[in-house]
Amino acid sequence: MRSPPDDAPRFEALFGRPAKVRAQAPGRVNLIGEHTDYNGGFVLPMAIPQQTEVMLAPREDRKVRAFSANLKSEAKVDEYVLGQEKPGRGWLDYVQGVTRVLHSEGHTLGGFDLWLRSDVPLGSGLSSSAALEVALLRGLRECFGLPLDDVRIALLGQKVECDFVGAPVGVMDQMASSLAHGGSALFLDTRSLQYERVPLPAGVEPIVVNSGVTHSHAGGDYRVRRAECERSAKLLGVEQLRDLPDGELPRALALPEPLGRRVRHVLTENARVLATVRALREGDLAALGPLLYASHVSQRDDYEVSVPEIDLLVDLARAEPDVLGARLTGGGFGGSVVMLARTGTGADVAARIATRYGERATHRATVLVPQPAPSP
Ligand code: GLA
Repeated sequence: MRSPPDDAPRFEALFGRPAKVRAQAPGRVNLIGEHTDYNGGFVLPMAIPQQTEVMLAPREDRKVRAFSANLKSEAKVDEYVLGQEKPGRGWLDYVQGVTRVLHSEGHTLGGFDLWLRSDVPLGSGLSSSAALEVALLRGLRECFGLPLDDVRIALLGQKVECDFVGAPVGVMDQMASSLAHGGSALFLDTRSLQYERVPLPAGVEPIVVNSGVTHSHAGGDYRVRRAECERSAKLLGVEQLRDLPDGELPRALALPEPLGRRVRHVLTENARVLATVRALREGDLAALGPLLYASHVSQRDDYEVSVPEIDLLVDLARAEPDVLGARLTGGGFGGSVVMLARTGTGADVAARIATRYGERATHRATVLVPQPAPSP
């Protein structure tokens, strides 16, 4: 988080006593491996510098009192009683979802006061909700001594989304927020949950540009894609698309439209993740770019999760000689683009792309990585 304001005095002013625990968790950018996680496949996300921070203090009663410093409106503390969580209260649903899920998994919590701040932009495809869930779960783990390891925290966060918020997501975002760090990508097998940290080679740096077109995965399109994959798997007689051998692609392509194209995306995307991991390990920079661009085309044409603004950002990236590759990152239907550029060029390239985008699109692009220097 860039030059974080010291919020401790603000917690005290709001709740009348100091915070006992502070915890953070980052947003994530997925380098490659999109819409593969709910098909049991491979993903390769990285943590971004933008984070969510929570401060907590336990209470004597069963109340949760929560304040978000992100809300522009007047300072307002929202509250509910543990055991009486009800969805439909905006950002508070993530907090309510966490306490509900912890309870349903047999963990004992008392009430608490909660203060949170996030600089992961909402609806940007960079997992602001996973960052909130993981930060809060980390804070509650410390506050109430809960026996949770980092993988368990990720699985609980995913459960909050699926069972409480109503967004049928895979496990990538929460695993990335809980386990990814530094300049390494997290190569994750979403079926076995085995993971390995793969450093970026010295010659490349990531760029992340938010298109300003926001999305929500509780909404219809993401759900439809997931259902299409599940239907395809059933028609093809496999448990998940991960189980379909590459040689079976012709059989998949004979499925009714658009199922064949959906399956082709998932199969080829899994293969691209493995090829990207290989290229990163071998420092084969020339191989990286085509993999990213191919992933974008597959998302655009076969999986149909891109939007014109995102395609424009990718086209602007193609015109930059120092960009190796670029693609839509995250769930899609808006959000952000991830690029790999030659080390040392990222800030200039990203600023130029954002300016050109502003001249041609009705939205404004924001460069998130590399983090722009704070204005004086
Ligand atoms: C969202 C979901 C993830 C994953 C991506 C697409 O970010 O939360 O589980 O499915 O979309 O790769």
